[in-house]
Amino acid sequence: MDFLEIKGPQKLHGKVAISGAKNAALPLLTLALLSRRPIKIDNVPNVADVRTLLQLLENLGAVQSFTENSATVDTNSVNSTCANYDIVRKMRASILTLGPLLTRFGHCEVSLPGGCAIGQRPIDLHLKALEIMGANIDIRQGYVIATAPNGLKGANIVFDKITVTGSENIIMAAALAHGTTVISNAAKEPEVVQLCEILNKSGVEIKGIGSAEIEIKGSGGRLLDIADFSVIADRIEAGTYLCAGAITNSEITLANVIPEHLKSLISKLNSMGFEISKTQNSITIKPCKKILSADIETLEYPGFPTDMQAQFMALCTQADGASVIDERLFENRFMHVSELSRMGANIKLTSHTATVYGPTKLTGADVMATDLRASSALVLAALVAEGTTRIHRIYHLDRGYENLEGKLSSLGAKIKRLSE
Ligand code: EPZ
Repeated sequence: MDFLEIKGPQKLHGKVAISGAKNAALPLLTLALLSRRPIKIDNVPNVADVRTLLQLLENLGAVQSFTENSATVDTNSVNSTCANYDIVRKMRASILTLGPLLTRFGHCEVSLPGGCAIGQRPIDLHLKALEIMGANIDIRQGYVIATAPNGLKGANIVFDKITVTGSENIIMAAALAHGTTVISNAAKEPEVVQLCEILNKSGVEIKGIGSAEIEIKGSGGRLLDIADFSVIADRIEAGTYLCAGAITNSEITLANVIPEHLKSLISKLNSMGFEISKTQNSITIKPCKKILSADIETLEYPGFPTDMQAQFMALCTQADGASVIDERLFENRFMHVSELSRMGANIKLTSHTATVYGPTKLTGADVMATDLRASSALVLAALVAEGTTRIHRIYHLDRGYENLEGKLSSLGAKIKRLSE
């Protein structure tokens, strides 16, 4: 099993190129199921979750290739609509095949994704919406058995809660449905916006892109002509590197980013004393004399992203004073607290609030990654901790960060990937 060894404290310097967004690439790859011809997608991050989804599509009979961050998927040879447990359990976003498979083939069996470290992660809102669109949904032996023999029909969907993959599933289901679907309380994440933009360019008339109310005129079962496109930059990877610059109080520049997508994080870093300059596709963070504490409440986009909560908590260990972190989206997204505390952090927990008292001197330790973003928080803490940190179970990291040790090394970090 691989682990990362990081020696600190270590200042960073230079420039790092941000990869394509994992959480945009995943729904965009399942879009291939709606396409008449093979689709070609560039700037696809070479991360485990993407490789897992490509494997799932291949298991369904699709032909896929993935080299140099460019993926092509041809679903004309799909001969199965069963997404089985052994793949879905590895990557819950496999649930994104549900809407496309059902709307194209009229039936599918997709394993229930099950929970994960950060929470129960139900999909009840996905299923309820598909039933309103005319699907018959059964749950049997851990599988969603969905049928819509005459295809799905456009409907008015109101999501009780804002759900990113729920919105994406229904947008894709609606794209081939008969009639118009209106989704209210839809997610506004940039990844959802790019999915809508690609569909719109492929002849599916969509109104309200980027708003909470999206109207989709279905093609009535006609497959789409989807032109080649490139995945947007990963705003969470970018935010993680911004926090790496902040926690080591260094000057670094991020290239190939979309600053607009990081407004809530940049505003927080400004309030902590960091000077941040931007161009159209780059962000530079500069050191500050004293890192001030700051409070956050995680919210759906454009609020402070839950996927940046753990990384921000690591930074708050170096801030002067008490920082209150309120996790509003997931019921168990504080798994990183115990590991940060073992490195010397002073954090008090209640049910969904963590109060971080700083600045505290962190010291290197053997720590264990528990989920994707928690593991990146441990990397950030290790960069500023005195001594050597070894981070174990980094398969969590490999799910969502492309070449993390290579990128951090190029910024001057003392980081090595070793095997136990
Ligand atoms: C997406 O997950 C992201 N994953 C997550 O990123 C991210 O943390 C999350 O959105 C929130 O931004 C991908 O895009 C692949 P939700 P998703 O449905 O869609 C509740 C990462 O680190 N809910 O928006 O699964 C749910 O329990 C990952 O890259 C229901 O109750 O999240 C949660 O409390 C981690 N019923 C809230 O909604 C449902 O049917 C938001 O979940 C669906 C969701």
